[in-house]
Amino acid sequence: METKWWHDAVVYQIYPRSFCDANGDGIGDLAGIIGKLDYLQTLGINVIWLSPVFRSPMDDNGYDISDYCDIAPEFGTLAEMDTLIAEAARRDIRIVMDLVVNHTSDEHPWFVEAKKSEDNPYRDYYIWRAPQADGSAPDTQRSYFGGSAWEFDAATGESYFHLFSKRQPDLNWANTKVQQEVHRMMNWWLDRGIGGFRMDVIDLIGKDVDAGITTNAPRLHPLLREMNAATFGDRDVLTVGEAWSATPEIAKLYSDPLRHELSMVFQFEHITITHDPVEGKWKPRAFDLREFKKVITKWQTALADTGWNSLFWCNHDLPRAVSKYGDPGRYRVESAKMLATALHFLRGTPYVYQGEEIGMTNVRFESIDDYRDIESLNLYRERTAAGVSHAAMMEGIYANGRDNARTPMQWDASDNAGFSSGQPWLKVNPNYCEINAAAALADRDSIFHHYRRLIALRKAHPAIVHGDYRPLFEAHPQVFAYERRLGDERIVVINNFTAQPVELELPAGLRGIPGKCLVSNYTPCSELGNDLVLQPYESFAIALDARAA
Ligand code: GLC
Ligand code: CA
Repeated sequence: METKWWHDAVVYQIYPRSFCDANGDGIGDLAGIIGKLDYLQTLGINVIWLSPVFRSPMDDNGYDISDYCDIAPEFGTLAEMDTLIAEAARRDIRIVMDLVVNHTSDEHPWFVEAKKSEDNPYRDYYIWRAPQADGSAPDTQRSYFGGSAWEFDAATGESYFHLFSKRQPDLNWANTKVQQEVHRMMNWWLDRGIGGFRMDVIDLIGKDVDAGITTNAPRLHPLLREMNAATFGDRDVLTVGEAWSATPEIAKLYSDPLRHELSMVFQFEHITITHDPVEGKWKPRAFDLREFKKVITKWQTALADTGWNSLFWCNHDLPRAVSKYGDPGRYRVESAKMLATALHFLRGTPYVYQGEEIGMTNVRFESIDDYRDIESLNLYRERTAAGVSHAAMMEGIYANGRDNARTPMQWDASDNAGFSSGQPWLKVNPNYCEINAAAALADRDSIFHHYRRLIALRKAHPAIVHGDYRPLFEAHPQVFAYERRLGDERIVVINNFTAQPVELELPAGLRGIPGKCLVSNYTPCSELGNDLVLQPYESFAIALDARAA
């Protein structure tokens, strides 16, 4: 396989609204990000995935774009964006932009035009259908944010299609003009020196509404190959598609280099196993380690020779990892480090979501009025109206609501966690006096420094990047362990996912082999004995001595 710079890179995701507010209006901004680049350089990351900063009415915090070639005034200016790209480059950090082209904002000039009349030249940029004879929506497709995916527009007597909020009309990708406009815009950004694209809900762009197909429609992969050829194909960038519907076979279609589509996709199987199969994320299901291990092993194995994995616990749509999979109370530090180790030694490109590196936790606001996320608010309204209790709905929001990830980044113990000198747009998590970046930087044993070590290890050990993956203790209910191997180099990674100590009897091939501990969240060990006793959430990686092994 041809080696790419992004194979050993680590990506850091910034949700700009919540990262750092430089001008005190309560909203994070580009100037704030520029001021924190040294912090990110210390962490050692190579790429920033910047959630949308484009001009937007912010119905979905920027995932509703009204001008792809300008910056939202609350975030800054194009000149500041250029400064960010240049200042990041000085620190060997590339900027990956969020490409949100399944839909635009209803305030995008294309949609403003399209609404005017059925023969407007932009009409066909969107998806319009006549209501049924009885006046109801063209079909029964639901929006991910609640309600019908069809919104009736009285001006022309037709409905337009929106898989997200009604202020996010879906673009019509069957229209070649739409394809060309998007390609032109992507090249415009590439020419500004960005390092690639994260592609929002990319698995939806091939949709065929008349056939009732939204994800993985036949048109999807041809569209991506055309996009690749017309834009980033001959540039050395990272592209990652958000693909909730991907199976390993589908992920290979996206990420097989010979197919010229994307570098990799985000798949979500390890996330959706914690959602109710029918009710989805609002009815959380307990984390089942054995199921999780099966999913990870399946993906690590399936993409071993063809394609590439992305690795992540968190993003701006997901709960905080330490709250979901670890122990945010007594073992917050141990479990956050364990989760990081478990993920960062896998094969693929790791993504760290802002605040994950200091072990930020979920938040519990009592009142729904303290929430800002359109998805949580819409679904709360819809489901409580349908009879679900306030308490049940809040439990869903506490476990999986998107604002868990969006409370302001906790920089220090000063007012508003040092995020802003003004009133933050979303309340700060009350635990910021204890959990913040300043405290983490000052403590050699912090979660932050653990992440820093993991990121540095990836650069130093080709086995982490390219080695084979072999699961260990597959049936064990508490331990997730595996071995990575490349030539003579063998790395064994062992993680206790529980607060209970574990006695582990090592298999013959691993007993008594001396080695070097690469990273640990307890006292480092220097060899694998015959038996191991793992402390609560204990986790370590050991490079076995090649001659002894
Ligand atoms: C993706 C984004 C999410 C957004 C949605 C619609 O899932 O990650 O934040 O709401 O797409 O753009
Ligand atoms: Ca601001």
